[in-house]
Amino acid sequence: MNPLIGYILITIVVLIAFIATFFYLWIIINPLFGSVPYVPSSMKTVRKMVEAANVVPGDIVLDIGSGDGRIVIEFAKKGIVSHGYEINPLLVFISRMVIKFKGLEGKAFIHYKSLYEAKFDGYTIVSTYCLPKTMSDIETRMFHELPLGARVVSNTFRFKQWRPSRKDGNVYVYEKNIDSSFSKEHIAVV
Ligand SMILES: C[S@@+](CC[C@H](N)C(=O)[O-])C[C@H]1O[C@@H](n2cnc3c(N)ncnc32)[C@H](O)[C@@H]1O
Repeated sequence: MNPLIGYILITIVVLIAFIATFFYLWIIINPLFGSVPYVPSSMKTVRKMVEAANVVPGDIVLDIGSGDGRIVIEFAKKGIVSHGYEINPLLVFISRMVIKFKGLEGKAFIHYKSLYEAKFDGYTIVSTYCLPKTMSDIETRMFHELPLGARVVSNTFRFKQWRPSRKDGNVYVYEKNIDSSFSKEHIAVV
């Protein structure tokens, strides 16, 4: 074999091994810091979340902890401007590549940022797949910052004080409107 081809092959294998190791280490280390581990929503659930959000023209979506960007991408495919906040640089890179590949650059945006930095007032739909601790951390601020009419779609996990208006299997839908139930007395029971 031509030594140059051998050299290129070895470089590719080492590169793939390095990326895979980094990826898995990040997944293991992440939860140790009390953050949300990378567990992607199934595509069935993603479609259910998009459906449950009742999108209308002009909506702007934020997925907090956007993983590989699948939720951001699914909303963008509906023509909705969608943003994702993600702290895993590899997932940021992968999701940006997929967005480019699918030609959704003008609609889907991934920010290498912590979800704790998010300002919710600019969004009409927020999607989450976060552990209860993170849900509690952001609940009050999200409720107060979101504009009236906003919806939050959550995979599996619920807020403590904000009562969901609907539930479709593992997807909870919260609406911010004048009748929204948000108090310590309204522990969600659906
Ligand atoms: C359970 S996964 C959900 C991914 C995606 N939303 C989905 O449903 O397929 C949670 C994601 O949040 C990311 N994450 C954890 N802590 C974060 C933080 N503080 N800011 C932004 N993203 C975070 C993780 O890296 C992971 O990709």
